[in-house]
Amino acid sequence: GPSSSDDDYVPDMNKRMLLNLLLVGSVGLPASIMLGTYASFFVPPIKNKGSGDVVAKDALGTPIKKETYLQTHQPGSRDLVQGLNGEPTYLVVNNSGELESYALNAVCTHLGCVVPWNAAQNKFICPCHGSQYDRTGKVVRGPAPLSLALAHTDVNEDGFVEVKPWKETDFRTGEKPWWK
Ligand code: FES
Repeated sequence: GPSSSDDDYVPDMNKRMLLNLLLVGSVGLPASIMLGTYASFFVPPIKNKGSGDVVAKDALGTPIKKETYLQTHQPGSRDLVQGLNGEPTYLVVNNSGELESYALNAVCTHLGCVVPWNAAQNKFICPCHGSQYDRTGKVVRGPAPLSLALAHTDVNEDGFVEVKPWKETDFRTGEKPWWK
């Protein structure tokens, strides 16, 4: 079955905590202060879009070192990390035990569920409406209309794994990326 990291993964935790903070704060504060101070302070971390943060992190937010990761992840594994801009992302260890040069955004292209890897079936299978993606994230069964978004992996000078935007042709379809 899916690895434990799938169950442990809580991408919306920070969002929920921040929303709770905003709700609590709104009780005692005028709207102008809410909008002026709180919103500008808290909204960017909630969205976290375009923050440019590329270092991959585990479910606890700890930056991932490549060597450590490869010591604890088997060849063929696909496990969730926080990737580009904190998005749920699969790092892939290839059959030679090396980190694959691409990572997969785990968000289903149908309605956005995080899609678990099913090692026994060698596919990603979405629990929400049954979409399936092959081991490279290429869609093989709908209703998902598109393959999982690609990202590049890299390792920085300190040995940490980075996940960066993929702007080139999608090697699975030969088409331009549908994501940006
Ligand atoms: Fe994945 Fe609908 S969200 S199949």
